[in-house]
Amino acid sequence: MKNILITGGAGFIGSNFIRYMLEIDPVVQVINLDLLTYAGSMENLKDLPAPERHTFVAGDICDRALVNGIMNHHRIDTIVHFAAETHVDRSILGPAQFIQTNIVGTFSLLEAARKYWLDENAMPVDTVRFHHVSTDEVFGSLEPTDPPFCETTPYDPRSPYSASKASSDHLVRAYHHTYGLPVTISNCTNNYGPYQFPEKLIPLMITNAMAGKPLPVYGDGQQIRDWLYVEDHCEAIHHILTGGQIGETYAIGGDNQPTNMTLINQICAILDERFPESPNTPHSKLIKTVADRPGHDRRYDMDITRIKTELGWKPRESLGSGLTRTIEWYMNHAEWLNAIRGREDFKGWVDANYNARESKK
Ligand code: NAD
Ligand code: DAU
Repeated sequence: MKNILITGGAGFIGSNFIRYMLEIDPVVQVINLDLLTYAGSMENLKDLPAPERHTFVAGDICDRALVNGIMNHHRIDTIVHFAAETHVDRSILGPAQFIQTNIVGTFSLLEAARKYWLDENAMPVDTVRFHHVSTDEVFGSLEPTDPPFCETTPYDPRSPYSASKASSDHLVRAYHHTYGLPVTISNCTNNYGPYQFPEKLIPLMITNAMAGKPLPVYGDGQQIRDWLYVEDHCEAIHHILTGGQIGETYAIGGDNQPTNMTLINQICAILDERFPESPNTPHSKLIKTVADRPGHDRRYDMDITRIKTELGWKPRESLGSGLTRTIEWYMNHAEWLNAIRGREDFKGWVDANYNARESKK
């Protein structure tokens, strides 16, 4: 790994991964291709540990000429593909962009990699890698007594977001089987931590609670997600890049499965402890159930035996310590947060998603 193309590196996990890579690897050059959609920001890339080894390119992964040019110009030997539309609720209200970015965008990157690494033989094929970052949501929804998902669980996506990610996973595997492109795939559970856009559950609850705003719980709040601190996800991807087998898939998860309601109460309890004098204490009084997400997946759970035993990775952060670190980060980054929450497009999203839920309940 010398010249690594990271797509979506101005977003939540991508920016954390760039920090992680620059810290752990003293020589790697990072080329970060990001369109800076609503979810991406240069603010996420401030204070990088080795900024001279980070090159930012503003642009679209669907732009084939641009991606071909980056591959050649920077002699890319590794691609770690994060760029995507990622919010399930947005995929329900507007699926088209998910098809374009997640499916057509992945296709465009695969074509560029095939051209440069396989057709032009730019470098020995055993020195290159396309790593595709995917999600547990491709596997569908579990009943209470179902066993957890694992690498061989059949695909059963149920939202436009998860269907578009499933599609991209299939394309990546097809390029391995058909053309011999050296790929790996990871399917990870819900991440949380610094720089997560405040439309997602944990940062939304933290920031609304800090502002004394309602905490909107979809449906009965008994849905279950598996939560992983973002640095643990970055470490898992690094393990796959350095030790993973070509053509293989690795399931990643946090071994933390509270119901949404339990998780939100845990966030409220941490805030109560930090701010006993706040007029919002107890913060749980802000909890408000609202109309459910259409097609809401009930439960996710991930069996991470393979990555544990084959690559020696396991999550380091417990949910309690990870939540405390995350809450402190949001408390210390009011400027970052206010810049997003003050934007008209963010206010428009909150109105579009939450006002309709109020009236439907
Ligand atoms: P995010 O929404 O925070 O960031 C996505 C980034 O991609 C943004 O910087 C955005 O500007 C960029 N982007 C979007 N469209 C682009 C395009 N056409 N060209 C170039 N850049 C574009 O996403 P995230 O939560 O950091 O997720 C990153 C990846 O990890 C995604 O592929 C997602 O499916 C996957 N994933 C996320 C989670 C999670 O809990 N967040 C869990 C498992 C897997
Ligand atoms: O499982 C991995 C996936 O996790 C990633 O692939 C996605 O990119 C990421 O967005 C996330 O998807 P979820 O739909 O699970 O995350 P979200 O934060 O949107 O919601 C988590 C749970 O909280 C879900 O059951 C819906 C619920 N929820 C969410 C919001 C935003 C609420 O109850 N209220 C809310 O306001």
